[in-house]
Amino acid sequence: MASSCFCSKFAVLGALVLMVVLAGSTSAQLSGTFYSSSCPNLLTTVRSAVRTAINNERRMGASLLRLFFHDCFVNGCDGSILLDDTSSFTGEKGAAPNLNSARGFDVVDNIKSAVEGACPGVVSCADVLAVAARDSVAILGGPSWTVKLGRRDARTANQAAANSSIPPPTSNLNQLISSFQNVGLSTSEMVALSGAHTIGQARCTSFRTRIYNETNIDSSFARTRQSNCPSASGSGDNNLAPLDIQTPTAFENDYYKNLVNKRGLLHSDQQLFNGGSTDSLVQTYSTNPSTFNSDFVAAMIKMGDISPLTGSNGEIRKNCRKVN
Ligand code: HEM
Ligand SMILES: *[C@@H]1O[C@H](CO)[C@@H](O)[C@H](O)[C@H]1NC(C)=O
Ligand SMILES: *[C@@H]1O[C@H](CO)[C@@H](O)[C@H](O)[C@H]1NC(C)=O
Repeated sequence: MASSCFCSKFAVLGALVLMVVLAGSTSAQLSGTFYSSSCPNLLTTVRSAVRTAINNERRMGASLLRLFFHDCFVNGCDGSILLDDTSSFTGEKGAAPNLNSARGFDVVDNIKSAVEGACPGVVSCADVLAVAARDSVAILGGPSWTVKLGRRDARTANQAAANSSIPPPTSNLNQLISSFQNVGLSTSEMVALSGAHTIGQARCTSFRTRIYNETNIDSSFARTRQSNCPSASGSGDNNLAPLDIQTPTAFENDYYKNLVNKRGLLHSDQQLFNGGSTDSLVQTYSTNPSTFNSDFVAAMIKMGDISPLTGSNGEIRKNCRKVN
């Protein structure tokens, strides 16, 4: 009797602990108005810094959007990708999906400096990145939305998780579906978020096999891409090509039109329209830009909700490259 009472008290305690843990891991505390009194000029400050960066280099909008994706997929949207390596710390910048590829860190520093000038010590790097990603999409002609805020910055990073959680361009459809499922995103959200490849560039090494050896590719498109991406591995590895052959600095639904025409640049891109379960959604987005825009926005908000640090977890980093 006494022991069963003892056990049930533990069960109640356990349930309480579980509830607290779950509450801490949901996005309940993120809100569009999180900084409205502590940093009223946050959004205008970030937008003007992002605008300056994109005016300097149109590709930068794509690079900032991708940084947010690569942040959120590794232990949540916690600014971990922004931490530099030190002699005693290995960050995520050297992880396979980021090495020689992720870019825009100087621009994030500039945005953060401007934000620190307006409201010192208040706004996390994770939130700066979330707003910069939204502004990038909007400035390049895509939709805009209210960004939920209140994330805090990690004091750690995880290179092994970056290697394994961010899908590589060699992924097949099932692998893409499961890597998004691992962070709580559905197959249709995966298809909508992939529309980000309507902007930005990829390196020859990311698409070489596709343009020389695959058959589900438009042959004139393959030839065009071969002209600046030699077949021998090691030569021209970093030569760039646009992910969207038409308009690599305009955010619209061209990505899906390309897929329907077998002009996906990455192997993983063309997997979304290759006779499988996602063909019909690709077809829908290719002809219905407003459906794409609203699904993309909803999926971006959901991606931004992945395991944020809130409350007293993490910190508000002063310098996005290092822990305080
Ligand atoms: C579906 C799985 C995805 C795979 C396999 C993938 C893979 C890649 C690869 C290989 C590149 C080129 C990297 C290089 O060659 O240096 C790239 C670029 C890019 N990705 Fe993805 N990606 C995926 C999803 C996403 C998502 C969800 C977003 C954002 C919402 C995104 C945004 C971008 C952008 C904007 C670029 C161009 C970056 C620049 O020009 O600096 N990608 N992606
Ligand atoms: C991540 O991948 C890179 C490149 O393949 C490799 O050098 C590194 O050791 C990996 N890191 C971890 C922690 O597994
Ligand atoms: C294409 O496939 C052949 C035969 O498997 C292989 O030897 C070659 O390296 C591949 N080329 C590229 C660019 O992937």
